[in-house]
Amino acid sequence: MRKVFLFLLIITNFNSVFSQTAETPSWAKETKEQKEKRFEWWTNDRFGMFIHWGIYALPARHEWIKHNEKIPDEKYQRYFDNFNPDMYNPKEWAKKAKDAGMKYAVLTTKHHDGFCLWDSKHTDYKATNTPCGKDLVKLFVDAFRAEGIRIGFYYSLIDWHHPHFPYDNLHPNKPKEAEEQAKANEKRDIKIYRKYMKDQLTEILSNYGQIDELFLDFSYPGENGKGHEDWDSEGLIKLIRSLQPQILIDDRADLKNTEWGWDYVTPEQSMPKEWPTENGKRVPWETCQTFSGSWGYYRDEHSWKSVHQLVLMLIETVSKGGNLLLNVGPTARGVFDDRANDRLEGIAKWMKFHDRSIYGCTQAPEEFKAPDNCLLTYNQKTKRLYLHVLEWPTFQSLSLPGYGGKIKYAQLLNDGSEIRYRTNNDNVTLTSLPVGRPDVEIPVIELILE
Ligand code: GLC
Repeated sequence: MRKVFLFLLIITNFNSVFSQTAETPSWAKETKEQKEKRFEWWTNDRFGMFIHWGIYALPARHEWIKHNEKIPDEKYQRYFDNFNPDMYNPKEWAKKAKDAGMKYAVLTTKHHDGFCLWDSKHTDYKATNTPCGKDLVKLFVDAFRAEGIRIGFYYSLIDWHHPHFPYDNLHPNKPKEAEEQAKANEKRDIKIYRKYMKDQLTEILSNYGQIDELFLDFSYPGENGKGHEDWDSEGLIKLIRSLQPQILIDDRADLKNTEWGWDYVTPEQSMPKEWPTENGKRVPWETCQTFSGSWGYYRDEHSWKSVHQLVLMLIETVSKGGNLLLNVGPTARGVFDDRANDRLEGIAKWMKFHDRSIYGCTQAPEEFKAPDNCLLTYNQKTKRLYLHVLEWPTFQSLSLPGYGGKIKYAQLLNDGSEIRYRTNNDNVTLTSLPVGRPDVEIPVIELILE
């Protein structure tokens, strides 16, 4: 008996070790250099626009409204029937993104409610069948590309409309009792839904040119949830990579314990304390954030972040080696509302003079410590260090312990004016800061290193 138990224990352990290190399938093999090449634009560009748009913009009470208010299909249909964003002009969106310094844009092609923004052959539940009548994805791609902005797609793994998406914990229309749910699910065949996802991904990754990022959303494995086996995530990733070999894929398909099933991690709605790691190694990361609490347009949500907080968020993200994907939720008329425009304009104003401290930048080398109330970013290619001064000093000076012998020149970034400094052994003291804080959201001092 004991022997059998021991044997079982070994087998179980072996299995879990095995799944931890799940061998890289041959189609996913690539060299370190190939992987770095795929990331090249992304680590340079750092800043993108997320766009959550769909028929949930009509109720204007969060993109999860179907779930939050347990709305049955028949009732949710009114948003489909009335979807008519008559002012949709993605050229305007693209211009605003570009002015704000955003270098890539990720659009929700389909969110959890299952509504598709493109003219999919595999469903009727799409923009072309609403009064809008347009392939919104096509127009978006053309407009953003024309501004030189890279294209990314968000695609929801979850689908609260598809008749073969089995009811689960999150499904807004799930029968109340477990037994009823199981019975109802007998008529739902996840194999059909899996094929639907593959067909749709094939469409969006074949018909719109080069797509640089794919944001699959999301997995919730375990009791009455869904994970990689439900989605056939391995099959999805294989398909995606075959259609767009250069694409970068997020980490929400529940393949975190493999090396090949994701490219970057996606913390959201908070700021990581430090550069995120997996198995002790720093990994590429992109944090997606909202202006307010909601991704989709939410008319009566008033907890909007200020321009200052958003600029700070961008700097802090880059200071920890990450990317920021900042979300806009356009209205049902198809425009960004005033609050969003105001924040984007504020960011644009700052980026116009300070984008050098963002693009191509990352966390500063260990030897440089940020002084109090400062954040550092670093450009490895140009060997420049960027000191973001959050609290402006009163006495025209700022000391930089440990910087002695490492600096060649210092200047304010907003006007390129020289900042003089004194070196004393290991320490540097900047001595000629203006008394008045430069009139920019967050002043930056550029230090040109030896
Ligand atoms: C969450 C939410 C979703 C949103 C996403 C953005 O997964 O479910 O509504 O699209 O975060 O990252």
